[in-house]
Formats: sequence, structure tokens, C-alpha cells
Amino acid sequence: MKRFRIKGPAPALSGSVRVPGDKSIGHRALIFASLAEGRSKITGLSAGLDNRSTAELFGSLGVQIELGEHEATVDGVGLHGLKMPQGALDCGNSGTTMRLVAGLLVGQRFGTRLIGDDSLTGRPMRRIVEPLRARGGLIAGLSGKKEGEVYPPLSVAPLLEGEALTALEYSSPIASAQVKSSLLLSGLYANGVTAITEPVVSRDHTERMLRALGVPIQAMGPMVVLDPSGWDRRWSGFDWEVPGDISGAAFVIAAACMVPGSDVTVEHVGLNPTRTGIIDAMRGMRADLRFTPKGEAAGGEPCGDVRIVHGSIAATMTAGEMLTRMIDEVPAFCAIAATAGGRSDVRDAHELRVKESDRLRTTAQVLAAFGVDHTELDDGMHVHGGARLEGAEVDSQGDHRIAMMGAVLGMAAHGETIVNDVGCVATSFPAFASTMASLGADIVEEDVE
Ligand code: S3P
Repeated sequence: MKRFRIKGPAPALSGSVRVPGDKSIGHRALIFASLAEGRSKITGLSAGLDNRSTAELFGSLGVQIELGEHEATVDGVGLHGLKMPQGALDCGNSGTTMRLVAGLLVGQRFGTRLIGDDSLTGRPMRRIVEPLRARGGLIAGLSGKKEGEVYPPLSVAPLLEGEALTALEYSSPIASAQVKSSLLLSGLYANGVTAITEPVVSRDHTERMLRALGVPIQAMGPMVVLDPSGWDRRWSGFDWEVPGDISGAAFVIAAACMVPGSDVTVEHVGLNPTRTGIIDAMRGMRADLRFTPKGEAAGGEPCGDVRIVHGSIAATMTAGEMLTRMIDEVPAFCAIAATAGGRSDVRDAHELRVKESDRLRTTAQVLAAFGVDHTELDDGMHVHGGARLEGAEVDSQGDHRIAMMGAVLGMAAHGETIVNDVGCVATSFPAFASTMASLGADIVEEDVE
């Protein structure tokens, strides 16, 4: 087992770093490159295990992918060129892989089975299974701990000759880019329009990429419409660069915001407005953030350098659409809130209960270990910040974002912090410890029995 050992408080953090390529964009770039006609080159790809799961899965579907540490060369097979795999398709820890790929597998003329690790096997899939079935997808999962819910493994039966997916008009009860993307991917194979409405616009990487590839898609506020009539259902290979992952950058930014004297720049980070809720929340805390725009990356994704200079910060709140735009950043936000004077609030975050861990519960447990006064709510958290933080021993519970939250709190706390079971950090940010050490943090990653 791996663990982090951190000595705090860290001296002022300073310097410039890059973070791994954006995981969400990486998954989608690999999917669209696999379905393209001809060769694509993807650079800036995360070396994290989640993107590898997607790449390996398409390898099993007959796509030639040459995978380097941070790049992939993909010989796309076109929308109808995927081949029946030998065995089950393993999505590892990656919910995005399973939910997105399920959408395109229901359009195939061969059957498949999608499996994942223990954490993924406990995650809800009814949100995609139900609407995919509504358009004729032959997909099913298992029952499990919550009545009426559907869990992996998922099995997908082939569409027979003469069968096709139908039009779908779907109003999603949750704002979820995974659901939206899964349905749009199935829509690429459907005879008819796909129209999806969400309560709040979730991350829009899929829509941006489809538009860049010439697929007839239109977004109107919270509604997105894919109308394939008259479209030849083809696109060519492309060269895309994946920008840095704002969800990984959030932990670097959080540490610099929490450790006095810090001045840190994260270079070339994706700044898609559907992802920058954490930046807006930190602005609400009066954090000193400075931006240098760096143009657009992969399929129309704005990016730039983000500099954070430590200063005193105030408590704030996040909810509603801002919360949706920072759905993966709540652990980082709560860590920062622990050092802000006053009560910070997180609301409307029910979805965190079904991430890689029950992230409201695990975030609360980490706050408790560091002696941070807090109240766990059904849909969020009150964090009473500003008291002195003492080093602690915490457990990631297999969740990469909880491991990194523990580490950044350790950098601001007095004394030694141990974060146990940090192997999971490799899913999104394998070089987290060395990146933080390069900025001056006293953090080591150790192997223990
Ligand atoms: C993701 C969407 C979000 C996010 C996840 C990645 C994506 O999940 O939490 O880390 O790439 O589409 P939901 O769609 O479940 O909100």
C-alpha cells in the first residue's frame, strides 16, 4: 500500500507546474479518435489510469492505439468499424468510461459486457440504462444495495439486422455530463433526433468536440439537440492537445491558497466555463487569482495559466449552477474553507454521495481528523474555518480526490500528516506528490506493507 507522509506547515510554495491532461477531455478525445476515419494524434494526455482504461477498452474493440506516456496515436475505424471484443470490457475505476462507452455500445451489432473495479461496481447506472432503453438500447445491469437502482456489470445485447435506435427526447433529473454524453453518443447511431435537457448545464466537452468534428449538434441553454438527418455520419482524424486538468490543478491552487507566502502558477489549464466553478468560488473568498489566456486546445477548449498568490481569504458558499461547475472540486473547496475565517457552505451536492466514494461522508471524515469544525448535511457541508490545523492520519478510502484533500490539509497543518491508501491518486494525478514537492512542500510517497 502507498501512503503520503507530509510535514507541515509547509514553507511558502513557489514556482510553476503543469498538471496532467484533463481527464474528461482525454476520455472524449480517445473516443472520438477511435470513431474517426483515419489517424488522430492526441497530445497532453493524462498518464492517469482512468484515461488508460478508455484507451485499452478501444484496443479491445479493434482500434489500433499506440499509447505513450502523454500522447496517443489512434487509427480510427469510423462509426461502424468497431469489432466484437474477446472478453468483458474493463473500465477499471472510471465511471466516465463506463457511462460514455455504454452509449455507443448500444448502437452496435455485437454484444458486450462492461465491468469495473469494486468502487465502480457500486455506482448507479440506472441514469443511463433507463434512457438508453427508452430509445431501443438492449442494456441491463444488476440490482444492488439501493432498491430500483441498476449496478455494473452492464450487458449490452446486439441490435439485429433491421433494428435501430430511435429518436429520444429526454429531460434528465440530474445535471450530469456523463448521462448527456452517453445519450449523445447513442444518438450518433440513432434514426432520429436526440434532444436532452438538464436542470443546469453540465460540462460541455462532448458538445464542443462534436461541433468541432462537424456533427450537427446545437446547444440552447440547458438543452442540446443532435439531429443526424442529412449528415453523412463520418469525420476525419484530428490532432488535438489536451489542456491541463482544472480538477487536478484545484489541489495545487488550494495548497498555495492555504500555505502563507505562496506564489504558484499552474500552466496551460483548461478553463472551460462549465468547469470553473472552483475559480468563481475562490473569487468569492477573495483569493488572489491571476490569469494569462493561452488560446484554445482540443476541439475548442479555452485554456490559460493560473497564478495564485496567498493572502487572507474569507468564507463563502457554493450551490446550484456554481456547484455543478465544480462538482469534482468540493473536497479541495472544503480544504480551503478550513483555513478561511467563518462558515463556508456547500449545498445541492447530493451527487457527491455516488462518486468514487460517498464524498460528503469521506470529506467530513477528513475534516474531522484535522479537527475542523463542520456539519455534514444531506446535500452538502458547513465548514467553520480559521482554527489552527493539527496534523492527522487519514485514509483515502480509495478515492483519489480525498487522498489529495488530506495531503493539502497536511501542508497547512502543524506537525506530521499521514494519508493512507493513496494508490488511487494514480487514476488522475500520478505525479501529485512530486509536483507538490517541486513547489517546496515536504511530502513523500512511501510504500508500506
Ligand atoms: C464527468 C462528469 C462528472 C464528473 C466526473 C467526470 C465527465 O460526473 O464528476 O468526474 O467527464 O463527464 P457526472 O456526469 O456524474 O456529474
